[in-house]
Amino acid sequence: MRRLVFLGPPGAGKGTQARALAAELGVPQVATGDMLREAVAAKTPLGLLAKRYMDSGALVPDEVVIGLIAARLAEPDARSGFILDGFPRTVPQAEGLERLLKDLGQSIDRVIVFDVGEGELLRRLTGRRVCPKCGAAFHLVFASPKADGRCDQCGSALIQREDDREETVRTRLAVYARETAPLLDHYRDRHLLSAVSGEGEIQAVRRAIRRAAGLPA
Ligand code: AP5
Ligand code: MG
Ligand code: ZN
Repeated sequence: MRRLVFLGPPGAGKGTQARALAAELGVPQVATGDMLREAVAAKTPLGLLAKRYMDSGALVPDEVVIGLIAARLAEPDARSGFILDGFPRTVPQAEGLERLLKDLGQSIDRVIVFDVGEGELLRRLTGRRVCPKCGAAFHLVFASPKADGRCDQCGSALIQREDDREETVRTRLAVYARETAPLLDHYRDRHLLSAVSGEGEIQAVRRAIRRAAGLPA
């Protein structure tokens, strides 16, 4: 199982788990949120467009992210597998992905959805701190860095994500319920969906994902 999709609400732990599992499997973590944030930081035309949506917690238009994924999956390192983190998030994106993979002669092995309650999501997102340089995520309480305010991996000063303010977090949760949750039925119908509890220790969630993906513990 080397072609996985991680699905779940904001703060569910998709990035934390995708980063670790992708490194173990030797496949890229393909995270549209991270790719868009890089474009925003570099002030590219894509970044300038995306920023307007991201800052308010809305989704970037489907055709924009599908284009981004098409280019990314065509790169050589994605040939033998990938973990999609935060894509697809609408039914049209899922359909776009199916077309892309069909052209590449590939298909999704499994879609893992992370179940986490809303109170926990709010606690995680408002306490999250991220490394602007290498993308690692920490939490003030649940996953604190070894040195206060510094990335464990590269030592950079950690920051809070623009869209992690409580008001924007609430918008993102509503957008997930309205636009992304319908994907659960989409993938259940295709017998691709496995649900894991995203609550509990990071290591416990990791084991549940490995089981769901049919990987050795
Ligand atoms: P994106 O960056 O994808 O954000 P998201 O889906 O809202 O998810 P997050 O990254 O906030 O959460 P996560 O599940 O990765 O959790 P994490 O591991 O960090 O998207 C941002 C924006 O970009 C969107 O709003 C949209 O505008 C745009 N965008 C992106 N993709 C798009 C698409 N396909 N289409 C259209 N627009 C798109 O963990 C969260 C926190 O919890 C961390 O602090 C972590 O340390 C902690 N934590 C993790 N696991 C645990 C645990 N088990 N116990 C306790 N704490 C934990
Ligand atoms: Mg993420
Ligand atoms: Zn770092």
